[in-house]
Amino acid sequence: MAELLSLDDTERLSVAEVHKLYRKFVNRSQVSLMTSFGFGKELVERAEGPWIHTRDGRRILDFTGGVGVLNHGHNHPRILAARQKFAERHRMEVHKTYFSPYVAALSHNLAQLLPGDLDMSFFPNSGAEAVEGAVKLAYKYHGGKRNTILHADISFHGKLLGSGSLTGGAQNHFAFPGISGVRSFPYDDLDGVRRLVAEARTERGDCDVYAILIEPFSASTMRRCSEEFLRGLRELCTAEDIVLIFDEIYTGWGKTGSLFYFMRYEGLLPDVVTTSKSFGGGKSSISAYIARNPVFRKAYDSLTDALLQSTSTTYYGFGEETATAIEAINIVVDDDYPMRARAIEKVLAPGLERIRKEHPDVISDVQGAGALYGIHLDGGPKVLDLVAKLAPGGIARDPLFRTKLITCAVINALYRDHDIYTYYTLNGRSPLVAAPPLVCGTAEVEQFLDAFAQVLETGLSRLLTRFVKEKVTSLW
Ligand SMILES: Cc1ncc(COP(=O)(O)O)c(C=O)c1O
Repeated sequence: MAELLSLDDTERLSVAEVHKLYRKFVNRSQVSLMTSFGFGKELVERAEGPWIHTRDGRRILDFTGGVGVLNHGHNHPRILAARQKFAERHRMEVHKTYFSPYVAALSHNLAQLLPGDLDMSFFPNSGAEAVEGAVKLAYKYHGGKRNTILHADISFHGKLLGSGSLTGGAQNHFAFPGISGVRSFPYDDLDGVRRLVAEARTERGDCDVYAILIEPFSASTMRRCSEEFLRGLRELCTAEDIVLIFDEIYTGWGKTGSLFYFMRYEGLLPDVVTTSKSFGGGKSSISAYIARNPVFRKAYDSLTDALLQSTSTTYYGFGEETATAIEAINIVVDDDYPMRARAIEKVLAPGLERIRKEHPDVISDVQGAGALYGIHLDGGPKVLDLVAKLAPGGIARDPLFRTKLITCAVINALYRDHDIYTYYTLNGRSPLVAAPPLVCGTAEVEQFLDAFAQVLETGLSRLLTRFVKEKVTSLW
């Protein structure tokens, strides 16, 4: 007889029991990695707004912003109410051959909020599925006659086999198979794109590129495309009839100070835009690709092709997920999230700049926009590069070893000593990310800045010694 844990049993599991189950049934190495940090050794009781409450009574300020998911903070009351209403009324989740009023209304709302004729939407679950939906649409738009797709060298577009093969960043260090015809250009380099487009010609001299995929603001590196680059790309794509896809999966819904990053530039229009993360209000796993009307129609608007557009056949446009997204984007508009992000930036940007100037030996630079900033902690003593050479396996070969060690030590100190939760990225120069939910006020941003300044005042050698000592102790 199988001995199953009930939901009540599950909620009573201790952190040691959870680690044990992870080691046995999920991933042993994840336990070793995550227990390097305080948060890997605790469990969360509940979370509200920007606050996480741990089982042992700590109140943690969540400055990760849920890695893009939590513009609304944790458990936003309007999101909870929308979901409760949906459940109480016993609404239907699966709309396969009945039409869904939620899908209809959500598509309508997106068309209202996005510029130009970006009108036609599809709703899968994850960002990677939205990216692959956009790529499929571009390929179909050209009737399978073009075979090349371009993406940027530092891009992050997801981890499925297709989206993974379009991801250029360091996260993609193992060569899984992917889609064919993929070429990569240096981010924000229009000449680089032009060169690849010129090279990708058929024998008859026709353009072979069906799509160009780009993050106008790269949330994993904190780099951004210049206006000149984006407008040049638009011009090139229009001239060559290439489908231009903007990946705004992370940066949508106000995070960088405009509704979508590209919308800060009047009249700039991609052919397809992807979104996810805060689109689900922090509760619903939903994504979307939204295409310009004529592009969508040419690709799929016929009876034979009407069902080709999906990237998942079972879970798309689910009832409660779409209902939640309707509420999520209404909140973004009602509470003016772009303005909230700009208000956060007004405090966060000068504060980080002040701290950078006080610690030029540790912080090489700070980049970001709105409520999304990256701090490059890539100074520090060169002797650490020698330490890396003595470290085992892959660690020794990582050119960012020093940066990652310092960044992890700072993240650990922020959490342990100041009850602040942050993260770093595995792309670009691995910045520490300060990305508060947009429900944060000035007081929370000041709290983060004070804590960050105090951590750096501790001095690198003390921070590093303690971090390494804790890591070694946790291994024994
Ligand atoms: C810009 C961007 N594109 C795509 C993705 C992939 O989304 P998902 O992890 O939901 O597949 C992410 C995830 O972080 C992202 O930031």
